[in-house]
Amino acid sequence: MRFLPHSVPRPDMSDKKNIDNTRRNLIVATAAASGAAGVGVAIPFAWSWWPSERAKAAGAPVEADISGLAPGELQVVEWRGKPVWVMRRTKEMLEAVRKSDDRVSDPKSEVPLQPEYAKNEYRSIKPEILVLVGICSHLGCSPQSKPIDAKAEMGADWLGGFLCPCHGSKFDLAGRVYKGAPAPVNLDVPPYTYLSDSTILIGEDKKGA
Ligand code: FES
Repeated sequence: MRFLPHSVPRPDMSDKKNIDNTRRNLIVATAAASGAAGVGVAIPFAWSWWPSERAKAAGAPVEADISGLAPGELQVVEWRGKPVWVMRRTKEMLEAVRKSDDRVSDPKSEVPLQPEYAKNEYRSIKPEILVLVGICSHLGCSPQSKPIDAKAEMGADWLGGFLCPCHGSKFDLAGRVYKGAPAPVNLDVPPYTYLSDSTILIGEDKKGA
C-alpha cells in the first residue's frame, strides 16, 4: 500500500481574486509506517492548497481525483485542515472487513460517525472506495496504515487496517475500532459525493452537508 499525491481542491469562484493571490502548492513530507516489515518510512506526498485560507477555514469542499488510484492504494486529501484518506480497497480488503466484524466494537456503525449513505457494511458509497477522516477518535493522533501483509508487526491474524501510534488503537479497513482499544468509537466518514467515476467531492454531498 502506498500513498499518492492526488488532492484537487475545488475552486471557489466567488472568491477567485483571493484564490489567485493565494494559490500555491506545498510539498509536505510526512512519516507514515507501511510495509510488511512494519518499518517506519518517510513517504512524501503533496497537498495542494487552492481554496483560500479563509475559504478552507469555512470548510470549503475539496475534489479528489482518484483516476490514478490503484487497488490497495491510499491517497490523502486535505479538508478543513484535516487529512482525509481515500483508499481503493481490493476484494481481499473487502473480505477482510467482513472478517473483522467480531473484532470491532461497533460492527454496524451504530454510532453516527458517518452519513446515512455510508452506514453499511463497508462504511462507504461504493464498496471499493473508502473515504475516512484520518484522525484517531481517542486524542486526535493520525493513525498509520498497516496493510494485510504487515503480519510480522501486527500479528499473524492481522487483517489489515490502521494503527494509532500514540496509544495503540487499531482500526480495520473500514475505520472501525477494535474492541478494547483506547479509542472509543470508529473513525469519521466525512460527507462526500461522486462528481464522476473518477472525482469525489469531499465535504459536501447531495444534501449539501
Ligand atoms: S490518540 Fe489514538 S489511541 Fe490515543
